[in-house]
Amino acid sequence: MTYNIGYFVGSLSSKSINRTVAKALIGLAPHNLSFKEIPIKDLPLYSPDFDEDYPAEGTALKQAIESSDGLLFIAPEYNRSIPGALKNAIDWGSRPWGTNSFARKPTGLLGASPGAIGTAVMQSNMRSVLSFLDAPQLNSPEVYLQYREEDFGPEGEILNPDTKKFLGHYMEEYTAFVERVLDASAAGHI
Ligand code: FNR
Repeated sequence: MTYNIGYFVGSLSSKSINRTVAKALIGLAPHNLSFKEIPIKDLPLYSPDFDEDYPAEGTALKQAIESSDGLLFIAPEYNRSIPGALKNAIDWGSRPWGTNSFARKPTGLLGASPGAIGTAVMQSNMRSVLSFLDAPQLNSPEVYLQYREEDFGPEGEILNPDTKKFLGHYMEEYTAFVERVLDASAAGHI
């Protein structure tokens, strides 16, 4: 069975290292995963004033989330938290009240930083948000990636064999997790 995975890159930077990591992950994924980016950069800032007549950008985002079998977030850490552009997209997807698009979607979360903490604090914040949104999360393995230029090529080629093994293992575990959550959901267990 093929699973459609919608992925968010939580950076608007044209030189994003997290986008490079996203490319690397897609290259490593099992063949039964099909990936589509859920874009966030053109979303206006969310306001409840939009709820009565949700604009096309918000509706498109919600449809992209809802039509995905699973979600993947690959994001930097900004000031020890979630980058504003990503949090804004999450707010759009969670509303209008009662139509939270993230509910019951299996999610994976990773991040890369040049710093040694490797987005750990951002991920901790994100886990609270995903819990509140009722989105099951792959808890282990965790990926707090300290990004080194020499480990990646520009199109996401992984030049470091240890990094390749580590991220490949993550994608195997993520795929098994998506299957487990969807099976449990189909059986009415969640
Ligand atoms: C950062 N950076 C950063 N790094 C980190 O490890 N922890 C942090 O809290 C922050 N805070 C932060 C705030 C802002 C506004 C910027 C622009 C940057 C550095 C960050 O990890 C680095 O710029 C990465 O390259 C960002 O990822 P992308 O955009 O390249 O994917």
